[in-house]
Amino acid sequence: MADSWLFLGTYFLWILMAEHKTIAIILAAGKGTRMVSKLPKVMHPIANQPMIGHVLTATAELMPSKTFVVVGPGMSEVSSFVKPHMTVLQEQRLGTADAVKTAMPMIANIEAETVLILYGDTPLIRPGTLQKMLQARSSGAALVVLGFRPDHPSNYGRLKLNKEGYLEAIIEANEATSAELEIRLCNSGVMAVDASQLGVLLAEVGNDNTKGEYYLTDIVALARLRDMECGVVEASAEELMGVDDRVALAKAEHTWQATRRTRAMQEGVTLCDPNTVWFSSDTYIGKDVVIGPNVVFGPGVNIADNVEIRAFSHLEGVRIEEGVAIGPFARLRPGAVLKKGSVVGNFVEVKNSVLNEGSKAAHLSYIGDADVGEKANIGAGTITCNYDGFNKNRTVIGKSAFIGSNSALVAPINIGDGVVVGAGSAIEGDVPKDALALSRAKQINLPGRAKALRKKLATQKASTKNQKMSEE
Ligand code: UD1
Ligand code: MG
Repeated sequence: MADSWLFLGTYFLWILMAEHKTIAIILAAGKGTRMVSKLPKVMHPIANQPMIGHVLTATAELMPSKTFVVVGPGMSEVSSFVKPHMTVLQEQRLGTADAVKTAMPMIANIEAETVLILYGDTPLIRPGTLQKMLQARSSGAALVVLGFRPDHPSNYGRLKLNKEGYLEAIIEANEATSAELEIRLCNSGVMAVDASQLGVLLAEVGNDNTKGEYYLTDIVALARLRDMECGVVEASAEELMGVDDRVALAKAEHTWQATRRTRAMQEGVTLCDPNTVWFSSDTYIGKDVVIGPNVVFGPGVNIADNVEIRAFSHLEGVRIEEGVAIGPFARLRPGAVLKKGSVVGNFVEVKNSVLNEGSKAAHLSYIGDADVGEKANIGAGTITCNYDGFNKNRTVIGKSAFIGSNSALVAPINIGDGVVVGAGSAIEGDVPKDALALSRAKQINLPGRAKALRKKLATQKASTKNQKMSEE
């Protein structure tokens, strides 16, 4: 029953969004000077995804007819990353109003009620909040600004409301009087504007201010001069924080991780010490998964139900099927596929390899570019020697094969089903089905020789000691 209500809710929301025709413009041309970086600010990652990616994901849920990203010169990384969305080049960074103006010719012929303007450096914005803004637009406001109340409003623009609670103007911190700086309600930068009015308002924005920039925030006062209704939607300070330096970037990462951890637990994942588990934006985890302390998920991890990941494991680009046990201290690198019920134990590294159902590598191994057959057992210290200095080569290990401890399997190599490789072997050639392969030196036992050796060494030591004493 709850499921069908959820479905109906989602359906109606979808209709609402699909009916409210929206164009999104995301501003990302700022130099990001305060990041002190060659990388454009919006490419700095949170949860292993550039900030601009987070903004695009949230925007996509509104199903805008088009999304444009405004970039500055020399920002080809951003243009490539945001594809298939189009980028618009703002030649000179003359301010946020100028940035939106640059995109206006692109949207001129697209039918839309609202232009939604977002900032690429406000990465924690949620789709639900954007939806509230479109609802406020549908209820009659020509312009809706997203506001928040941070603990330290410092450089944020201040939202000036009239007695009825409608927005009258946004005052940039640089331009504000000391009384205006007392206002706690701040501008997040996100605006939803009547598409038929935006061009007219932008045309009137000047740059007669302390920075000599065209402030987008000025369009509120201009709209009020034309008697347009301007409203405010509020959301939490955590969600709307802007990232202008690396201290803020770290804070945004922490906030994102805290939210994701809570979601994981709500969705049936046990986190033994939540604050020490780090997710990526695309991590997928099934139900009844238990994750120990200090586990890190890099990009591209997909985990099925009933998996246990013990402490201090690092996973990236891997697919893990039901009932698999991992770690502690396991390193799973891109291309690792762990099939049902397989085991990867402590200090085992797996890269670009498939561990088929029920196979095990329980201790201290490197498995790279390999196919490990069902129920095969990889002994401690086994290394697949996959790289000859020039090429990567593949190792194929058959079903139920047993690889003795400390073996080196020199690829390319094919170990048949049911093979036993003796411990300490360096195996260079293929091994046929059910064969026992040994390549270590033959053992010899010399009866009584250990005892004789001990006697000889003890006598030698005693005579050296006597000699030293007589010299003293
Ligand atoms: C801006 C707002 C401020 C708000 C704050 C929220 C203005 C004038 N001020 O200030 O009211 O409280 O965001 O975080 O809008 N950009 C361009 N082209 C430009 C300049 C900026 O695309 O010429 C982009 C930047 O890449 C960034 C966004 O616009 O994504 C905001 O620019 P930023 O310089 O960070 O503005 P703030 O000083 O943070
Ligand atoms: Mg900013």
